[in-house]
Amino acid sequence: MNTENTLKQKRYFIATYGCQMNEHDSEKLAGMLSNMNYLECDNKEEADLIIFNTCCVRENAELKVYGNLGQLKALKKKKPDMIIAVCGCMMQQAHVVEYIKKKHPFVDLIFGTHNLHNFPVLLSNCKQSESMLVEVWDEEGEIIEGLPSVRKYGLKAFVTIMYGCNNFCTYCIVPYTRGRERSRDPEEILKEIKELVENGTKEVTLLGQNVNSYGKSLEEDIDFGGLLRRINEIDGLERIRFMTSHPKDISENLIFAIRDCEKVCEHIHLPVQAGSDNILKVMNRKYTREQYLKLVNDAKVAVPGISVTTDIIVGFPGETEEDFEDTLDLVKEVKYDNSFTFIYSIRKGTPAAEMEEQVPEDVKHNRFNRLLEVLNKGVAERNSELKNKVVEVLVEGVSKNDENVLTGRTRTNKVVNFDGSKDLIGKLCNIKITKPRTFSLFGELVDK
Ligand code: 5AD
Ligand code: SF4
Repeated sequence: MNTENTLKQKRYFIATYGCQMNEHDSEKLAGMLSNMNYLECDNKEEADLIIFNTCCVRENAELKVYGNLGQLKALKKKKPDMIIAVCGCMMQQAHVVEYIKKKHPFVDLIFGTHNLHNFPVLLSNCKQSESMLVEVWDEEGEIIEGLPSVRKYGLKAFVTIMYGCNNFCTYCIVPYTRGRERSRDPEEILKEIKELVENGTKEVTLLGQNVNSYGKSLEEDIDFGGLLRRINEIDGLERIRFMTSHPKDISENLIFAIRDCEKVCEHIHLPVQAGSDNILKVMNRKYTREQYLKLVNDAKVAVPGISVTTDIIVGFPGETEEDFEDTLDLVKEVKYDNSFTFIYSIRKGTPAAEMEEQVPEDVKHNRFNRLLEVLNKGVAERNSELKNKVVEVLVEGVSKNDENVLTGRTRTNKVVNFDGSKDLIGKLCNIKITKPRTFSLFGELVDK
């Protein structure tokens, strides 16, 4: 490409908020933009197009988006030709779109999660439009295959296997913004992964709001365990990860697939959300504390060394001190390898938002801190069990803090740092853990 051409190329900047699903949607936007001859840039001032791909799972994520949008006002004044687009889950809510129209009228384009594939047409229409272009579809259409992606990281890639969620946990906005569950055709998934592997990918993470119900919407008789077994046969692929698993849908077949498929990593992300049966019931989680604990135990017995991680919400409406202590007890019993913890956040339009007995903010914060303490103790204990053990690490790059230190992850998804030369990047190495800490492990190279 000559310099003149490069100079003429338009530049885009994407800010992504929220989960891996959103990150992968941003990779698709980047793929479409690359086909339109746009170049990525990493600062907003240089960009001709700024996209905010938003998340609305918790209020904090929304406030961040509004704050960052507000900051664009001055830039847009300076560069009136610059296009500002906002998309993603937040836009699926009518009250958010109304708010942006009123408070941030300088935004040029708003679109939702269901019409992301139409982005090139929307962008072109928006350039010809004098006023803000808003196109948000209320309902999901068919799955659109074959969208290009520019993936952030070649060695590891996200692959969406299903969209949407049918579970309607009472606190959660996702079923309203991402629509009903739809599974991708297994052949399309296999084709995508084979192409990734041909281009150097060693590890895939299969994404879905509830991967365990994969296949339910398909005519073909295939479930998630069956899909894992087929992906496991792809030559050249080293590791398969997946998230998220809903405890109510974990089958024996899936646990056996994790046990039998050598490429499927020994890690399961199993959000418990709460340890009290009362709260689980009002959350509409459809399992009891006992069923959850049995599941964790079954997985640990079938797959020795499996790591278990979770999501927990504190301060759900009506959560008493006793309910919260049930969560603490469960956490002590399971000893999670890692966790994501959240303070309950009211989401307009969900049943929990209407529930009485909202827990006061100071109580929520106090419980949150107490929970973290217990969780971290468990993580430290689990990590210390790895002392002097040799683990397989996929080397991802150099450490952020020291470029002589390499960093990678174990099959159980723990970060390991060790001294080594850069030619090991992209390789699987055996590392002996010498210093296990709460948030990372330090080790020594045993062999390549
Ligand atoms: N408040 C707090 N946390 C929430 N999550 C989903 N909705 C809410 C909410 N309203 C958490 C759940 C879920 C994770 C992705 O986000 O723990 O598993
Ligand atoms: Fe939300 Fe529950 Fe669906 Fe997860 S399973 S996306 S928490 S409704």
